[in-house]
Order: sequence, then structure tokens, then C-alpha cells
Amino acid sequence: MKACNIMEDITKKYLDEMLSMRFDICTCDICKQDIIAFALTRIPPKYVTAESAFMDTLIEQARTENSQLILKELVMAIRTITANPKHEEGQDRDKAYHLLMKQIKDDRGVDFSHYRDRVLKRRIALRMRARNVQTYSEYLQVLIHSPEEYEDLFDVLTINVSAFFRDKVVWDKLKRDVFPALIAKKLKEHGLRRIRVWSAGCSHGEEPYSLAIMLYELTEKMPEKIKIEIYGSDIDRECLKQAMLGQYDSESVKGLSAYQLRRFFIPVGDKYQIVPHVKELVQFKKRNLIHDPAFPGVDMVTCRNVFIYFNRSLQEHLIMKYHGALNDEGYFVMGTSENLLGEARQVFSGVDSSYRIYQKIPMKRY
Ligand SMILES: C[S@@+](CC[C@H](N)C(=O)[O-])C[C@H]1O[C@@H](n2cnc3c(N)ncnc32)[C@H](O)[C@@H]1O
Repeated sequence: MKACNIMEDITKKYLDEMLSMRFDICTCDICKQDIIAFALTRIPPKYVTAESAFMDTLIEQARTENSQLILKELVMAIRTITANPKHEEGQDRDKAYHLLMKQIKDDRGVDFSHYRDRVLKRRIALRMRARNVQTYSEYLQVLIHSPEEYEDLFDVLTINVSAFFRDKVVWDKLKRDVFPALIAKKLKEHGLRRIRVWSAGCSHGEEPYSLAIMLYELTEKMPEKIKIEIYGSDIDRECLKQAMLGQYDSESVKGLSAYQLRRFFIPVGDKYQIVPHVKELVQFKKRNLIHDPAFPGVDMVTCRNVFIYFNRSLQEHLIMKYHGALNDEGYFVMGTSENLLGEARQVFSGVDSSYRIYQKIPMKRY
């Protein structure tokens, strides 16, 4: 009677689960086979006859008894094999990845070289799966022969998730303390009074429109007029198109109060259209934060949930770029999971560090 090693089946299943979460290593069939072969040299076999009536029970028992050992050996096997894969593509994986990034830059002018490799690789892997290819070289061919793939690739590379008044506590703080202080400062100025805010990485416009709504509400009843200018910029053309249109579905407007929704939006079919007098406070521009110039002379820069893509040195560079763009005592607002890095800690003071709201220290004081 034919006997089979049930540890092999169990190990293969574990490996599939483990690899489904790994985007940073080669997971091609050749590497998978090598990983299994390596691990099985270290996992004692358990042979049962293929016709055994208790096959399922035996497998379950072997799995429970040996799971720790199998996982340990698989971790070791993955590390060993993927560090030095046998096939050529594996050895050249980094090279192929850099060629892919170069092609993207040459074709579309977007340089991702400062982005975090781990984030990019995880996202590119999603597209590779969708196109059913296993190597960067194959994916490069997809981009060359089907340039429409770029749209889907950029969709996953630049995650555009946003919301009106995202992280409400931060907006509460802006409304209660930060904007009133800024408005009071502006009221002391003579001539044209103007508040300029730059929402950098504005996605579909939810953030700049939230800023516009808040500043409109705070200033509308004042006898002295303050001109409000909000700039929203993003690298993603499609996002900006939607931002300029100013129409949102019911899911997107959840962060607005019922009163704000009634007051600042007009229902259009199953969508909500931002009203013209708030819409006109916001201008959208396509800008790559890395290469394009900043909007100078602004009173506040919000750059929230954008830094996740960038490596540390680029983050430091951008924070200093925003610092240069801000008026003295201007405000800088980051995402709640982002941090001030390097030199920026010396040139910004914390207004409320837990909400990542900072203020530019005027030149003469540092
Ligand atoms: C997650 S959204 C953040 C939207 C909004 N700031 C918020 O916090 O809700 C990140 C945005 O950053 C944009 N982005 C990524 N890299 C960029 C770059 N180099 N220049 C400009 N925008 C970029 C993406 O297109 C995306 O719309």
C-alpha cells in the first residue's frame, strides 16, 4: 500500500498562509518548492497509508502536535532560501525592482525612489497578483505592453483614503484654539486681511473643504472681513478632478454634522455637492510634494497621512520645506500617527503635540 508523508501537506499549507502575508520576498513556485524541501529535511516525517480510514484525524493530530516545530522550521527555511534564491530572477530581484521603478519614472515622471520600499513593494505586489505575474520583470512587461495598468498601479501606490474632519479631536482643537488665535492675529493687521492654508496631499478634497467650512463658520459673522484662501495639492490627477468637482457620496460625508451637511452641501442625485460660496474658497493644484515648489506665505500647512510613503530623510526635507513656506508663527499639522523629525524639532514648537499641531518659531528666536 502506498504511504505518504502527511507532514509535507501540513507544511505546504502553513507555508501558503505565511507567504500570503509576505510581500517583501520572492514567492515564486521555484522558491516555494525550495523552502518546502529545506524545511522537510528538518521536520521528522510521518508516513501513513494513503487509504487510511483515519486520514483526517491523523493529519489534524499531527498538525496540532507539530505546529510549533513546523512554523519554526518554515521561518528558518524562508529566511535561508529567499536570502539566496537559486533562480536568476531571485538573485536579480532588487535589480528588477529598481528597473521597474526607473521605468515608472521614465514613463510617468513620478520618482518613487524616496518612498519606503516596504510600502511600495507591498502595494506593487497587489497589482502583480491582480495581473497574475510573479516577478518584477514580468510586471514591467505588463506596464510596457498595457500602459493602462499605470492607472491601477497609481491607485494602489497613492492611497487616497480621506474624510471630512478626519480625526475629529484635532479639528476640535483647531476650532477652539488655533483658528481663533490666528484670526485674532489677523485682525490686528492693517490692509488686506487674509488667511492662507495649504492642504498638502489633499486627496479628493475632503481636508481643504473641511478647512474652508471651518474658517467660513468662524469668520462669517465678523464685521471685519478676512479673505480665506485654501490651497489643496496632490500628485494624483484623478483625485484632483474629483476634488474640483466637489461631489461626495453619503459614505464620504459621514464626518459632517447634519447641520453642516444641510448648510454646505446640495443633494445632487445620490451625491452631495459642496455649495459654491465654500467651493470658491479652495483652489486645487497638481503638485508633487517632492519636486514642486511649496505655496509660500501660508499661515498653516496641513500634511496629514502622507508621510507614510516617505523615508525619513525625505520627511525631514519636506518638514523643512513647509517651514520655509510658513509665515512666522504659522501652524503645521501632521497626521496623528506621524512625527516631527530631526532639525524640525528645533524650529517648530508644539501647540498640541498629541494632536500633532505645531507652530513655526520665528527666525530671530532660534
Ligand atoms: C491618505 S491620503 C491623505 C489625505 C488627507 N491629507 C487626509 O489626511 O485625509 C494621502 C495623499 O497623499 C498623496 N501623495 C502621495 N505622494 C505624494 C506626492 N509625492 N506629492 C503629492 N501628493 C502625494 C496621495 O495621492 C494621497 O491622495
